[in-house]
Amino acid sequence: MSNTVVKIASLIVMVVSFIAYIAGASAFPIASENLLPWSVWFIISVVVNIVVWSSVMKLLTFSLAVIWFYAFVAGLVPESSTATGPVTALPWEDPDAVAEIGAAIFNGKGQCSACHTVDASAPKGRCPDLTDIGVNAANRQPGIDAKTYLIESLYEPANYLVPGYGKIMPEVWKAPIALSQLEIEAVIAYLQSQGGEIDPTPYDEPIDRADAGTVAAALPPLLTGDAALGKKVFVSAACISCHAVTGIESPAAGEENQDFEVVTAPDLSEIAAFNDMRYLEESILKPGAQIVSGYGAVTVKTDGATLQGTLVSQDTEQIVVRTKKASGEEEEHTLLLTDLDEEPIEELTNLQANGYFTLTLTPTDADAPVSGEIVDETEDTVTLKVGDSNQTLSKTDVKSLLTIVDFDGNEIVGSLVSGSMEDDEIVLNVDGSEEVIDTFDIEEATFTRAFGKKLLVTSPMPENFPLLLSVSDMSNLLAFLSTLTGETASAEATTAADAEASGE
Ligand code: HEC
Ligand code: HEC
Repeated sequence: MSNTVVKIASLIVMVVSFIAYIAGASAFPIASENLLPWSVWFIISVVVNIVVWSSVMKLLTFSLAVIWFYAFVAGLVPESSTATGPVTALPWEDPDAVAEIGAAIFNGKGQCSACHTVDASAPKGRCPDLTDIGVNAANRQPGIDAKTYLIESLYEPANYLVPGYGKIMPEVWKAPIALSQLEIEAVIAYLQSQGGEIDPTPYDEPIDRADAGTVAAALPPLLTGDAALGKKVFVSAACISCHAVTGIESPAAGEENQDFEVVTAPDLSEIAAFNDMRYLEESILKPGAQIVSGYGAVTVKTDGATLQGTLVSQDTEQIVVRTKKASGEEEEHTLLLTDLDEEPIEELTNLQANGYFTLTLTPTDADAPVSGEIVDETEDTVTLKVGDSNQTLSKTDVKSLLTIVDFDGNEIVGSLVSGSMEDDEIVLNVDGSEEVIDTFDIEEATFTRAFGKKLLVTSPMPENFPLLLSVSDMSNLLAFLSTLTGETASAEATTAADAEASGE
């Protein structure tokens, strides 16, 4: 009899929680988190159903579980959006109500609370506490009012970084968070209500929503993986060769990895204590996106010599590079940035991304070269700080030098007057006189369009993990990394060791 009650009750719970989950109903009242509840009820009832019912119901339950599972996986990304529902209009006649909608987005779909606290007594983490941001926003950037600052913080967080914090805040209007303009307006009202006054003035978005898709596609959604399996991936994918983690044995010395050079890398035992999942994910998918200071690899040229090593530190005037001799002995070199050599530049594309920080070029309509620090760059122009003013120059109207090597090994250097490698002849101006060169005699031709000093810092961490790791490896790995908060890491390790010991 009681068995029948359990059977029926569990069947009802399963059907109700299934429908509630699919329909995106809000969380079950007794649960405070809105992430899991209906799914948890559903899973529990599925297990009970499979245990208590006979074969036909077992099969039905199983089928429902499979359908649910697909919905769950498909819903992982927008799942949080069901928490608040789409915002279609804002009740501006009551600004506090708008701020309330903003608060719900802040703690839900916006994922802001995953990084930010609004509690002055909270421990200082990787993201600024937003207590009193409503007043502070007005003082962040000279000449920029609070609302404009908040708009910029949300749409283009990298434009102005709060001193001491890294470039990790996502552009919340882009996927996966993808807040609409109305949602961002509500969040701004909420932020302004933190110590300040809500300003309902409408604004134009400073971005083009048409490019939202491109970046998002590069980052897969965060999945909920299995930490124990992730630990195995950490060892089998050889992360452990470079990174120490308390409780996991590193490979024996001498057992060097065949695929990459083992280098000094940050200890990851407490990596999750101050970093969010998205940062960890990005660290693996795009190691070069943010390089932990003190670990980047650099190659610099000075006095005609090339130094290759680790960038230990850097300020506006000098850098310290640590190199390693073949004998294994390490040496630190302090170099002034002004002492770096000017290197010839063949292509003027992505100068800053390639590490150039100064540039010397001669515009076609000028006699003397222009030289300065690179302050900005677009596809077609580059802006240099020349003396006290900025000068924007075209990247195409540039006098360039051509270095030609013929088949006998002779080198001729001159400025191009006419012709190209596609023509029969090239005319060069060499020391004031014109020389005609038959392109058939040319073995190699190199253009030098400009000169520049370069400091390119790259990550020594291999870039091919996104190719090597499957989606499930990746989510398990992230789940494992998220357990590395210091204290729990060692606790985890002991329980895992115990489990292994008892299993054998
Ligand atoms: C992945 C972590 C992360 C998430 C998610 C995130 N932020 Fe941030 N946020 C940061 C970091 C780090 C900074 C400091 C660096 C900077 O200025 O970009 C910051 C800066 C800010 C600032 C400027 C603070 C100041 O003191 O001047 C505001 C305002 C802000 N975030 C609001 C939000 C809101 C609202 C959301 C959600 C829609 C959000 N953030 C989501 C990490 C995050
Ligand atoms: C060849 C050595 C090497 C291997 C192998 C390697 N890493 Fe790294 N990793 C580094 C170095 C060096 C850095 C610091 C420079 C940087 O930020 O890119 C780093 C940075 C990181 C960071 C950021 C650390 C921080 O303190 O912010 C994480 C997380 C990370 N690695 C995870 C992994 C994972 C997971 C794997 C395996 C899939 C892995 N690494 C494999 C060398 C390595």
